[in-house]
Amino acid sequence: MTFRQKHLLGIEPLHPAEITALLDLADQYVDLNRREQKHSDALKGLTQVNMFFENSTRTQASFELAGKRLGADVMNMAMQASSIKKGETLIDTAMTLNAMHPDLLVVRHPHSGAVDLLAQKVNCAVLNAGDGRHEHPTQALLDALTIRRSRGRLHRLNIAICGDVAHSRVARSNLILLGKMENRIRLVGPPTLVPAQFAEFGAEIYEDMEEGLRDVDVVMMLRLQKERMDGGFIPSEREYYHRYGLDAQKLSHARPDAIVMHPGPMNRGVEIDGEIADDINRSVIQEQVEMGVAVRMAAMDLLARNLRDSRANRAVNA
Ligand code: NCD
Repeated sequence: MTFRQKHLLGIEPLHPAEITALLDLADQYVDLNRREQKHSDALKGLTQVNMFFENSTRTQASFELAGKRLGADVMNMAMQASSIKKGETLIDTAMTLNAMHPDLLVVRHPHSGAVDLLAQKVNCAVLNAGDGRHEHPTQALLDALTIRRSRGRLHRLNIAICGDVAHSRVARSNLILLGKMENRIRLVGPPTLVPAQFAEFGAEIYEDMEEGLRDVDVVMMLRLQKERMDGGFIPSEREYYHRYGLDAQKLSHARPDAIVMHPGPMNRGVEIDGEIADDINRSVIQEQVEMGVAVRMAAMDLLARNLRDSRANRAVNA
C-alpha cells in the first residue's frame, strides 16, 4: 500500500507517491460523484466528527458530504456554542470527544500547530482542515487534482501564486505540494504580502504582476486575509486591485490556455475581477469545489484503511 499516513496533518510529511495515490483514488470518486447514486460503503460503520473552531462554508460542507457519501456517521460540532466558550481547553474538548470513539476527526483551528497537538492526544485519524497560517492539506490536494485534470499533468508547469501569501495556509501547502511534484513556482505580490523568506521554498518572487504572470500555465489567486492583518499591509483595496487584482489585461500575459484558480471565498473587485472568475473558458474555480469533495473522500478512505489495519494488528498482537 502506497499511502502510509495515520493522519493528514499537512503536505510536508507526504511522499510524492502518496500524493499520486491519493489523487488517483480521488479521480475515481469524481466519477462516483457524477452518478445519480453517489454512494459507497468505504466508511460504513465509522464515525466522523467535524470540529471547526473557525468559520468555514465550503470546507466544512465538503467534508460533511464526503463522509456521508462514503457511509460514515457524520457529526458537526458547533464549536461556537460548545464548552470552549466556557473556557475548556482544546485538549479537554478533544479528550471528551475521544471518549465517544470517533474514527475520523476533521479539525480547523485558528492556531498553527493546534491540529498536530490534538492528533497526539486522540486515538483516531485526524485531518487538518486548516490551522492558522500553517497548512491546509486537502485544499492543496484538490488544487493539484484540478491542475492535473485540466493540464494533463502535475509536473514541470509554471505556476504563479498571487496575492496574500504571507497569511495563507493555502499558499504554504500548495508551495510544498507543487514543489514536491517538480513544478516551477512564482510568488507574486507586494513585499508586505510576499516576504523574501518564501524564497526558501524554492520559489521565485515577483513584485510586478505582469512580469510574474508571463507565460505561466496556472494562475492561482489568493484572498486578501483581512482577518489576519493588523493594518498597513496594503495602501487601499482600490490601489491593490489596480496593481494586483487579476483582470483580463493582466491575464493576457499568461499562456493563452492558462487556467485561473481561487480557493474561495473571493473578494470580487479586490484580488480578482468578477468576470474573470466567472469565465468558464479560463476559470476552474467551480471545478476546484467539485474536486474538493472527491479529494476528501479519497483522504478519509485511505486513512480509514490504515486505521483498520493498525487496529487489526493490535488485536492480533494483544
Ligand atoms: C481558505 C482557508 O480557509 O484557508 N479557504 C478555504 O478553505 N476554501 C482560504 C481563505 O480563507 O482565503
